Amino acid sequence: MNQHARLEERPIPFIDVAAQRRRLGRAIDEAIARVLAHCQFIQGPEVHALEAELAAFCGARHAIGCASGTDALLLVLMAWEIGPGDAVICPSFTYHATAEMVALLGATPIIADVKAETFNLDPESLERAVADAKRLGLKAKAVIPVDLFGLPADHDAIAAIAAAHRLKVLDDAAQAFGATYRGRKLGTLATATATSFFPAKPLGCYGDGGAVFTDDDALAARVKSLRVHGEGIDKYDAARVGITGRLDTMQAAILLEKLKIFPEEIAARNAVAQRYADSLADVATMPRVGNESISVWAQYTIRLPPGRRDPVAATLKAQGVPTAVYYAKPLHRQTAYRHFPVVGGVPVSDRLAEEVISLPMHAYLDQPVQDRIIAAVRRALGG
Ligand SMILES: Cc1ncc(COP(=O)(O)O)c(C=O)c1O
Repeated sequence: MNQHARLEERPIPFIDVAAQRRRLGRAIDEAIARVLAHCQFIQGPEVHALEAELAAFCGARHAIGCASGTDALLLVLMAWEIGPGDAVICPSFTYHATAEMVALLGATPIIADVKAETFNLDPESLERAVADAKRLGLKAKAVIPVDLFGLPADHDAIAAIAAAHRLKVLDDAAQAFGATYRGRKLGTLATATATSFFPAKPLGCYGDGGAVFTDDDALAARVKSLRVHGEGIDKYDAARVGITGRLDTMQAAILLEKLKIFPEEIAARNAVAQRYADSLADVATMPRVGNESISVWAQYTIRLPPGRRDPVAATLKAQGVPTAVYYAKPLHRQTAYRHFPVVGGVPVSDRLAEEVISLPMHAYLDQPVQDRIIAAVRRALGG
């Protein structure tokens, strides 16, 4: 077997966390060693340093580290006192954590549709959802747009509708921290923004982690209290019922190192995306990024005509090219969410669930591997 054949057969990782680990190797080890030396494992100096760096990175007044992206969503909803009788509008085509904390708090997620070109919340569907909430006797309190796959939602249109109906906007940027919309970074576009540092995310740690961003001082103070058991000025006199929602010092130390190379990684992801777009546009429907946005490409998701996806995925797998389907079941079809109100059917979410397939995407996907993926996809699609 020659060298070329061996390269051809090597399995391609879908997301290569190990490649980044190799690049950062000693820096991460040393950052962890510093935490092991000072032993401030909870709310240590790295947490405060990271919060300052994250706020500076995106331009938000406050960045508040928390235990996961889900906790970031929960903490904001708790701070807003969302509960029974309240409606929160969520897109159907998302990871189900978007609606999970709404339901956990006893409020009603109203499930709206997305736009096929961007996979993100359709502002017209949001308008209809607000009307539906009223019809159902619920108080529409908030909307959670999702910046799916790393691409910012239509934030201007959503903000205008939210202002007209006095909705709070909680941006679910779990997949998209680092992305830009009309020259502004996510974290500054909504009343509050939640992100996730789950390892596979564009900015991921080595366990669970997340953050809340806001310019609202009062909200920031409530979220900080809620993430530490609702503590008040006196640590042992709880001001409110909260949770254990802190970001670990160890994870903060790791993120501080990763943040240093994050802008370079965003550029590298965009180069891969451009290469895919240039090479595959004639055989599949490519994701659309308008001039107003820069995506961080948490996923590179193409669309194929219904019925083609499974055979194409099998053909690619046989050639060592992994793919994934995000999401084969939109929210309104999942067991835990199918009883919640759906805005007049959500046909686009239903169609996308049949059509989407994601290709390998990360900042360390070199040109020979890109070539291999592109050639395999073209062959599988008869291009
Ligand atoms: C859109 C979306 N929202 C929320 C979350 C929850 O983040 P975490 O896993 O950090 O709790 C995720 C994680 O995958 C997500 O993709």
